[in-house]
Amino acid sequence: MNLAELNKIARAMVAPGKGLLAADESSGTIKKRFDAISVESTEDNRRDYREMLFRSREAMSSYISGVILYDETIWQNAKDGTPLVRLIEEAGAIPGIKVDEGTQALPNCPGELVTAGLDKLAERLAKYYARGARFAKWRAVIDIGAGIPSMTAISVNAHALARYAALCQAAQIVPIVEPEVLMDGDHDIDRCVEVTQRVLNKTFQELRIQRVALEGMILKPNMAVSGKKSKTQAGVAEVAEKTVRMLKNCVPASVPGIAFLSGGQSDEDATAHLDAMNRIGGLPWPLTFSYGRALQAAPQKAWSGKANNVPAGQRAFTHRAHMNSLASKGEWTTDQEQKAL
Ligand code: 13P
Repeated sequence: MNLAELNKIARAMVAPGKGLLAADESSGTIKKRFDAISVESTEDNRRDYREMLFRSREAMSSYISGVILYDETIWQNAKDGTPLVRLIEEAGAIPGIKVDEGTQALPNCPGELVTAGLDKLAERLAKYYARGARFAKWRAVIDIGAGIPSMTAISVNAHALARYAALCQAAQIVPIVEPEVLMDGDHDIDRCVEVTQRVLNKTFQELRIQRVALEGMILKPNMAVSGKKSKTQAGVAEVAEKTVRMLKNCVPASVPGIAFLSGGQSDEDATAHLDAMNRIGGLPWPLTFSYGRALQAAPQKAWSGKANNVPAGQRAFTHRAHMNSLASKGEWTTDQEQKAL
């Protein structure tokens, strides 16, 4: 392992004013997104849509540090035959790859999940590296509900995240470690903080046990937010303050950066929360975005599967990427949010 090189890539992923585009929806998930805009999920449509994003020059070169790809996409070529990976590199961004194989039911733990994909991971990582991937992503899913999460679910998911991270570093690939505590329940923000802290503490314990170099990874956590079905919804200032406190309690300063998932927050909430945290400042790590839905909902709608709408889709993507870039510096304002529309 060349740790200096891993650290350099990790720092580039969280470079000032930049964040990650999570465009790694599995075939099932992208079908759901396309269904919402009445677009058939064919291989060509998926290619055309992602090509539109990766050819958004301003967004890709000024605001996006790297793109998380799905296996299908990393092997796909643009319409003119250029590998999609090349488009990303040519814009100055770093290609990355989702390597987990989704979730499975966790035996003995009703309603809980464990992430699969460790088998043959070393071989897959070598192929992805040869194709240009310099970082990877693995998402563990922890749900909050009556009597869950169990310690079993937290432990097995943390163990798998650390196994994945160690394999990535051995393959000279920066692991994004993503333990996502879902915001689907009716719990309040304090319960989210309590569970997320347990999950982060266990994850870092496993990372240490498995000798993962913290300087060569990126953490992708959820923010501290109220469950979607909770009657009390925490405001922007509370989310920012509690998220920062939670992270300071659990994340070692040697981690080069933290890039949040959006997890079902509205586009503007995801931006406002990130901005408010960066305005608090004085943090040991850069805080930026690694958003899927909060970067893509607007361009998906603007595009709606029509070639004529590509410029509108690219404008919508560039706007969201720009707003999140400002938020990653604590410089976002509602004026700028509205001005460009
Ligand atoms: P969302 O921002 O839509 O949560 O997606 C980010 C991601 O990569 C989840 O694994």
